[in-house]
Amino acid sequence: MKTLKINPLKGGTKELLVPGDKSISHRAVMLGSIAKGETVVNNILLSADCLATIDCCRRLGINIKIHGTRLIIDGKGLFGLKQPQGTLDAGNSGTTIRLISGILAGQNYEVNITGDESVQKRPMGRIAKPLRLMGASIEGRMSGNEIFAPLTIFGGDLKAIAYELPVASAQVKSAVLLAGLFADGETSVIEKVRSRDHTERMLEHFGVVDSRYALRVTGRREFEGVEIDVPGDISSAAFFLVAGAIIKNAELRIMNVGVNPTRTGIIDVLHRMGARLEIENERLLSEEPRADIIVKSSELGAVRLDGEIIPRIIDEIPIIAVAATQAKGATEIRGARELRIKESDRIKTVASELRKFGASVEELDDGLRIEGPTRLKGARIDSHGDHRIAMAMAIAGLAAEGETVIENAECVETSFPGFDNILSSLAA
Ligand code: S3P
Repeated sequence: MKTLKINPLKGGTKELLVPGDKSISHRAVMLGSIAKGETVVNNILLSADCLATIDCCRRLGINIKIHGTRLIIDGKGLFGLKQPQGTLDAGNSGTTIRLISGILAGQNYEVNITGDESVQKRPMGRIAKPLRLMGASIEGRMSGNEIFAPLTIFGGDLKAIAYELPVASAQVKSAVLLAGLFADGETSVIEKVRSRDHTERMLEHFGVVDSRYALRVTGRREFEGVEIDVPGDISSAAFFLVAGAIIKNAELRIMNVGVNPTRTGIIDVLHRMGARLEIENERLLSEEPRADIIVKSSELGAVRLDGEIIPRIIDEIPIIAVAATQAKGATEIRGARELRIKESDRIKTVASELRKFGASVEELDDGLRIEGPTRLKGARIDSHGDHRIAMAMAIAGLAAEGETVIENAECVETSFPGFDNILSSLAA
């Protein structure tokens, strides 16, 4: 078992880089595998989740070379994937299993796919339903009305559908669009609330879409490999954006962070809380905007978060909760029931772990209520096997008095290899 030991941070001015974006990295590997010819991906995230996607694509017969953080994928075109031996393993990655299921639905052979204990507890009905409507057969372990991994997918000969998403989920949207690449005709997705649009942007970058960033694809059209530059992950930067805001006498400059508007909810929330945060050097590369973000110690105030902002901060709520412990007033986060079915039940785990620091946190059915500001006291924390809980609590530890120990910290590798090195560089 790995533990992280955290000591209070005394401020300081630092410049740092976070690794590549997880969502974009998964999509680059999958789309590069079904493009024709070479795709080169620069600044790919080589975390456990993305390595699971690389492993799945390799086992489908794709040659992928890793040179540092550069990936070279020898794409075999839409109909070049081979039936793998044995069961594909998505590890801890919900994105891997849900997105690749869209691709597997387009193959005319049977594939088995599963993941770790946490992935096996995550609902798969949300992708099984549209993929079945398109003509794929998806079987899995049933519990009540819900279907869970291990999944057996038998597809091919898909028909296009127009699908209205019942939940705001980029994973479901992407699974349908990826399956649509193999379907006869035009597949479209309708979303009531906008979720991250990396799949649409990357399809545009590969030249696949009918119109700019459309939620529509025409199937059975081959496309060629491209070069992709992955920006830094704003969900990883979020930990240091909050650290910079809540630590006294701090100024952090985080370089080359993805600032896709469907992901920048954390910046909006910090601005609304009164954080001194600036964006510089914004530019567009591979259809994805990126910028440098500068954050300075701030006096924060409480906010109420609900509705359309929730999908734009869905992965950042644990670290927003940490910021809320240092903000004046009661922060309320509602309409976020989806948090209960992430890598852990994040409503429960955020509440239980923040309380160990002495924070005042109320667990709500669909969110959290946090009263601040509180002087946090160093604590012994359990990550519950959830990378974002481990890292959010590590940042709380930087702002607390005394030492904090994060137990079960190996899960940080899921999305952020090198997190502890950045923590040490802040302290140096
Ligand atoms: C992701 C979408 C989100 C997010 C996850 C990554 C993606 O999940 O929580 O970490 O890459 O599409 P949902 O779309 O299920 O909300």
